[in-house]
Amino acid sequence: MLVAGNWKSNKSFNEAKEFANALTSMPPLPDGVEMMIAPPAPYLAALGSTPWAFRLGAQNVSATGPGAHTGEFTADMLQGCGVHDVIVGHSERREGYGDGDEVVAEKVNRVLEAGLRVVFCCGESLQDRQSDVHFDKVLRQMESAILHLPAEVMDRVVVAYEPIWAIGTGLTATAAQAQEMHAAIRGWLREAHDEDIAGAVPILYGGSCKPSNADELFACQDVDGGLIGGASLDSVMFREIVDAAGRAHAAQVEATSAA
Ligand code: 13P
Repeated sequence: MLVAGNWKSNKSFNEAKEFANALTSMPPLPDGVEMMIAPPAPYLAALGSTPWAFRLGAQNVSATGPGAHTGEFTADMLQGCGVHDVIVGHSERREGYGDGDEVVAEKVNRVLEAGLRVVFCCGESLQDRQSDVHFDKVLRQMESAILHLPAEVMDRVVVAYEPIWAIGTGLTATAAQAQEMHAAIRGWLREAHDEDIAGAVPILYGGSCKPSNADELFACQDVDGGLIGGASLDSVMFREIVDAAGRAHAAQVEATSAA
């Protein structure tokens, strides 16, 4: 299970350091759970010079390599700053900053070439869901960014399903809605790659995930953790979600050993 916090454009640098210290001084992580925090980009180099209890993530990366690209930062630069994971394809970037499918696919390539892990986001709008094209929409996003990847990089791919209508709205996908989309993504991975890869790629749920609904969402067979926005801004709340992932992992282990 992976619980990842996407802070978006929130927190001062001092608040970020306080959070990192607070999270790191909490009890050890539950078995089978890893944490990731993606703070704003200006904080990455400083945070990346200290080992924390969490993996350090970036919220964005350039689709280009080094050169005359004012304001951009490359995947290699992130790697050199101690970043482990990079979020790519978030709907807020797709909608507001011109990250179309081609740009997103290029960013995925750059992250993987730099040896980092990518957290690839996909998800449908409310209109897509109401028009019953949500599976098509999500699987087309998978196709454009993930289909061409060779098997050997797939152990550095994480998929995050984030229905746009659930992001920051307080509306959460029901466990059944999350499970059916995650199962469709898993099925797509099975067809595009194979059973082993499909089973190994973590598929996170994102969209108003919080301590009060994390247990139910994480109990779903194909939900392997969460990408958390608002509830990742509070270290205690975030840790509660991490502990929910720990309970889900323990239940899975118990179910497997009973079978
Ligand atoms: P919220 O948890 O605030 O809905 O945000 C989800 C998200 O966009 C994480 O990337």
